[in-house]
Amino acid sequence: MSQLYNKIVITKKGGIENLKLIQEDKNQLYKNLKQNEAIIKVYTAGLAYADIMMREGTYPGHPPYPFTPGYDIIGQIEYIQENPFHLKKGNFVGALTVTGGYSEYIKLPIEKLMPISYINKNHKIPDIKECAELVSLILNYITAYQLLFRIKKLNSDSYILIHGGGGGVGTALIQLTQYYGFKNTYTTISKRKYDLIQQYNVKPIFYQEESFVEYCKKNHILMDLILDPIGGMHFLDSYKILNKNGVLVLYGTYNFLKQGTLKSMAGVPLTYLRNLFSFNRKKVVFYLIGQKKFGGYNSVKEDFSILVELYKNKHIQPIIDTIYPLTEENVKIAHKRLQEGDVRGKIVFRML
Ligand SMILES: NC(=O)c1ccc[n+]([C@@H]2O[C@H](COP(=O)([O-])OP(=O)(O)OC[C@H]3O[C@@H](n4cnc5c(N)ncnc54)[C@H](OP(=O)(O)O)[C@@H]3O)[C@@H](O)[C@H]2O)c1
Repeated sequence: MSQLYNKIVITKKGGIENLKLIQEDKNQLYKNLKQNEAIIKVYTAGLAYADIMMREGTYPGHPPYPFTPGYDIIGQIEYIQENPFHLKKGNFVGALTVTGGYSEYIKLPIEKLMPISYINKNHKIPDIKECAELVSLILNYITAYQLLFRIKKLNSDSYILIHGGGGGVGTALIQLTQYYGFKNTYTTISKRKYDLIQQYNVKPIFYQEESFVEYCKKNHILMDLILDPIGGMHFLDSYKILNKNGVLVLYGTYNFLKQGTLKSMAGVPLTYLRNLFSFNRKKVVFYLIGQKKFGGYNSVKEDFSILVELYKNKHIQPIIDTIYPLTEENVKIAHKRLQEGDVRGKIVFRML
């Protein structure tokens, strides 16, 4: 007998009208299931900026349309065979899926599953708020953790500049710098989002009122690590205030919607070239979560388990904007809001 489940697909490249809710037969998921695959009942899936880029057709290497977006999920294992990770049916897990998350069920390779040990030990079913916070740890917090700890060796006196401090990754970065005791953290942020981070010992630079380059020059500050997801000529500006052994990490092209893909991407090679001809010891690095040079999926798993411990012990607290039930209408609203920059924290879809 067929049992239907809901999922969202992007039917073709373009606007939010191409987001559609469809139903599929669950039996199809079980058909041809490989020994190394598990079926997960998804509880929550995160909304990522990359989902918007995939819908717009500007994310490099996205699958052919139609496909289901969804970069990260939290869920419960519904079916699994014996495996070297000792994962069992009923265990709660997270996964960095990259695509496929906006769905009530998902088939995943067992090696991608990241157990949430404190939940599995206590056999406790987490509520939706906890599942929303846990899913926020995956893309946003793992990225933040790796930007701080897997690129440059820092000490508590290092000067760090976090661009976009009011965003999902930005707030995660700020919470982590506070927990790990970095004393010289600066962030570019808009006044409307400052309340999200006001409680932390971070110096704000209100980028809409003052250029961060001027601010740093005026205060004689050079940065040891600059984390820049903005894109375009912003990268070149960041380079201007980099210390002599400093590292500038480019990890997003947030303003591609304002500037267009070409202009926002052009900043990457231009900044590399600028560095190449400078004959100094500054470094420019492009970061993408899960990439081999940052430890691949194994480092994603390791860092997730550290972050789950920090979360369990209340050292970090993901900021949730809204938890939407997974409907076509809600997914369209959520995409529109993220695209317009009208989001404070993470948007999460719930399947229950
Ligand atoms: N490489 C990776 O593996 C990876 C992983 C995760 C995310 N990312 C990328 O990182 C970027 C941010 O993601 P997110 O989830 O944190 O997005 P988000 O929550 O929308 O945050 C972006 C923030 O940037 C702020 N902003 C916009 N223009 C700015 C500027 N010129 N200067 C300083 N801040 C500015 C926005 O706030 P206001 O509009 O209020 O200023 C917003 O708070 C995206 O491009 C995403 O694709 C990359």
